[in-house]
Amino acid sequence: LIPVFCILLFLLLAWIILKKSGPLSAQIQRRMDHINQVVRESITGVRVIRAFDNGTYEQHRCDKAFSGYADNMIKLNKLFAFLNPTVWLVMGLSMAAIVWFGGLMSMEGTMQIGEITAVTEYTIMTLAYLIMAALSCVTLPKMKSCLDRLEEILHMTPEIKDTQTQSSMTVGNKPAVQFDHVTFSYNGAEEPVLQNLSFSCYAGKTTAIIGGTGSGKSTIATLLLRLHDINSGKISVNGTDIRTLSQEKLRDNIGYVPQKAFLFSGTIADNLRMGCKTATMTQMKKALRISQAEHFVDGLHLGLNAPVSQSGSNFSGGQKQRLSIARALIKEAPVLVFDDSFSALDFKTDAALRRALKKETPQTAKIIIAQRISTIMDADQIIVLDEGKIAGIGKHPALVRNCQVYQAIAKSQLSSEEVTAV
Ligand SMILES: Nc1ncnc2c1ncn2[C@@H]1O[C@H](COP(=O)(O)OP(=O)(O)OP(=O)(O)O)[C@@H](O)[C@H]1O
Ligand SMILES: [Mg+2]
Repeated sequence: LIPVFCILLFLLLAWIILKKSGPLSAQIQRRMDHINQVVRESITGVRVIRAFDNGTYEQHRCDKAFSGYADNMIKLNKLFAFLNPTVWLVMGLSMAAIVWFGGLMSMEGTMQIGEITAVTEYTIMTLAYLIMAALSCVTLPKMKSCLDRLEEILHMTPEIKDTQTQSSMTVGNKPAVQFDHVTFSYNGAEEPVLQNLSFSCYAGKTTAIIGGTGSGKSTIATLLLRLHDINSGKISVNGTDIRTLSQEKLRDNIGYVPQKAFLFSGTIADNLRMGCKTATMTQMKKALRISQAEHFVDGLHLGLNAPVSQSGSNFSGGQKQRLSIARALIKEAPVLVFDDSFSALDFKTDAALRRALKKETPQTAKIIIAQRISTIMDADQIIVLDEGKIAGIGKHPALVRNCQVYQAIAKSQLSSEEVTAV
């Protein structure tokens, strides 16, 4: 009865400790996440922190994140520290009880000395293995919280899925890109970011999209790439609804230059080959020539093999933009989308790039998203976006005359002679 009582007491203690350590372990994982986030931000944003002289505040934020983690770890280890001596206490008391009651029974002649030794040995062995089991069990809550988080990621289902029956791209005289009454809102947003948008872009023509910040220009580009699915309406590429195409086939048809030029670590050639794995030297040179990057790449000691640091931090904003334009051009896709990709270029380079694009990609449908009127003035079609709605579509002269939103943008960027000269 004494060993049974001790084992039950031990199990009860272990259960209480496991129960208490479970939430603590889960919290420790969350605090670890927070530490990663804070440390990552302070390293990647070190220049901004220095420029704003915000070191003390950031240090305080880091300290807080670390001390939160340390507090939880201390609480957890205190629990385990309590388990160890308590277990030895239970074991010691059980030994004393066995010897005490065993001694009394042996004096009465109801128990042999050998039996007392056997019970003592068995109790010690049982408790020793239980202690080992309990020490393994203390890692269970930590393991569970790690597994829960892994499960969360592994069970995440992508929002965008390819349909079972996929269409092939039709070949014909259809618009290269067509938005048909497209409405879209981001998850959790109250208002739709784009409302009832309809326009078409044709092969060989340039469509420009202009509008205030936050008017939904970049969202149009991401919808065309099907990075989000629209709420209503239809987006077609060459007359085929993009939801019926495989994502791979759709994106093969689009050369995309994101608003934030992003390069991967490696060499310039590695980055360009992202657009086309089999690109030859001549193709790369041609893409660099169109994107006005040939001159500066030739000026680098290693040329196309020049190293690119993490996220392209060893290049200037304009150089990164030109390299990411070259990466999109090398794909030779029928549709090219430039999301504010000329913003970091000086006016001369911007104009030279657009001239080269026109000459070298005559069959491509080009969508140019821009803030600068000078970049888009000579486009075949300009779409003026205002708070997610189309405020006007047409060529520059017509828009200057008829579209108030466009007039306001034009007046803010061009001299009154340039505006009235139209
Ligand atoms: N991933 C997102 N989740 C939720 N809302 C978003 C997301 N991306 C953009 N938005 C919101 O959608 C609106 C349009 O954003 P978008 O990036 O398309 O604007 P934009 O016209 O490209 O602006 P800019 O000229 O500054 O680049 C903004 O109000 C923005 O807050
Ligand atoms: Mg944008």
